[in-house]
Amino acid sequence: MTITRFLTGITPSGTPHLGNFVGSIRPSVAASRNPEVQSFYFLADYHALIKCQEPARVNRSTLEIAASWLAAGLDPEHVTFYRQSDIPEIPELTWLLTCVTGKGLLNRAHAYKAAQDRNREAGHDTDDGVSAGLFMYPVLMAADILVFNAHKVPVGRDQVQHIEMARDIAASFNHLYGEHFTLPEAAIEEKVATLAGLDGRKMSKSYDNTIPLFATRAELRKLIASIVTDSRAPGEPKEVEGSALFQIYQAFATPEETATMRAAYAQGIAWGDAKQLLFERVDKELSPMRERYDDLMAHPQRVETALRQGGERARALARPFVQGLREAVGLRPLTPASTATQKGKAATAGLPHFKQYREKDGKFYFKFVAGDGTLLLQSTGFDAPRDAGQLIAHLQREGAALTALPATVTAADGVALDSIVQALKALASG
Ligand code: TRP
Repeated sequence: MTITRFLTGITPSGTPHLGNFVGSIRPSVAASRNPEVQSFYFLADYHALIKCQEPARVNRSTLEIAASWLAAGLDPEHVTFYRQSDIPEIPELTWLLTCVTGKGLLNRAHAYKAAQDRNREAGHDTDDGVSAGLFMYPVLMAADILVFNAHKVPVGRDQVQHIEMARDIAASFNHLYGEHFTLPEAAIEEKVATLAGLDGRKMSKSYDNTIPLFATRAELRKLIASIVTDSRAPGEPKEVEGSALFQIYQAFATPEETATMRAAYAQGIAWGDAKQLLFERVDKELSPMRERYDDLMAHPQRVETALRQGGERARALARPFVQGLREAVGLRPLTPASTATQKGKAATAGLPHFKQYREKDGKFYFKFVAGDGTLLLQSTGFDAPRDAGQLIAHLQREGAALTALPATVTAADGVALDSIVQALKALASG
């Protein structure tokens, strides 16, 4: 079984609405239950500062969004769920990446270009009101992704360019300093529809047509009653195409229920009755989650604790990884020779270690050996030493988080994955 690492960030700058639930929260929580997937979900609060300079709002939104994900069934035991600003290695890596990122690459970012275009149209200076934060946005996002070497990044289409930039930045770094980063890929969920809002356009904060995910029952009823419909009278057949009401119903109902609603439209159901059915259906889906949400909002400490614990787990990976990057770029102790030999001795004396060698078949191999000399892992043969090296780097990086072995290494007879993980941990902290 190969494990794919998924990572995605949510910018906390507003209150989650039904569109966020259908388009992002629900599919992500479902995906996180797949045993072949290791998920990293985080609140991108450093990103929020770029567009929102109201401290109370950033703070409130972080709580609301984290509580929404937990209420929707995200299991923080299984998913690494954290807050970006709890991981100091992210801004640290941002700087290392900034220094290998061409300014020209950032000049081409859509969000930055759009801000410039708006200024030009309004006859202002092109950089009017454009912060360096907006300009640097793609580098911070690259650091988010690369610090955990994520393979796949589920995002909306508007973010695809940022993932491509993260790949470019990672490739520049690898080219200069060696193969440290996995090149991430965007995972665009084609099947997930965007939800219609109250006015029939896409549900979005910028159109002010949203239904908050955890509105009270009374608010939910009122908002659903305000969804636009056409002026067809009760008894007149109604069109499902272009009906926001039908579209929202479909996003919550089973295929059978949807078929029944489609028939009711054809038979001329009154808009008021259709709205009542929609309200009941959505409320049925949301009310257990709403209860959990209200409970978490009343006990923010629980959310704080969950995020802190996730942050600790995330840092256990980020800390040694960024330490290795610091060394790679030359930020090292000034006495490299002496520290290296001491460490080298310690490795042969008592720490687990990797041994690389070449066999008569001309291929390159490695073993992973415990401090007492017991064989733990044996690799298959590789054509190039670099391939063996990359796999070793991968194992070192995964360390504590390793949940399965890559296909190209095998555990020695009678050695459990758990002992290998322990030895990798000992190696990382030694
Ligand atoms: N920029 C993303 C958005 O606005 C949020 C985000 C920040 C993100 N860092 C990320 C998404 C890393 C994926 C991976 O939607």
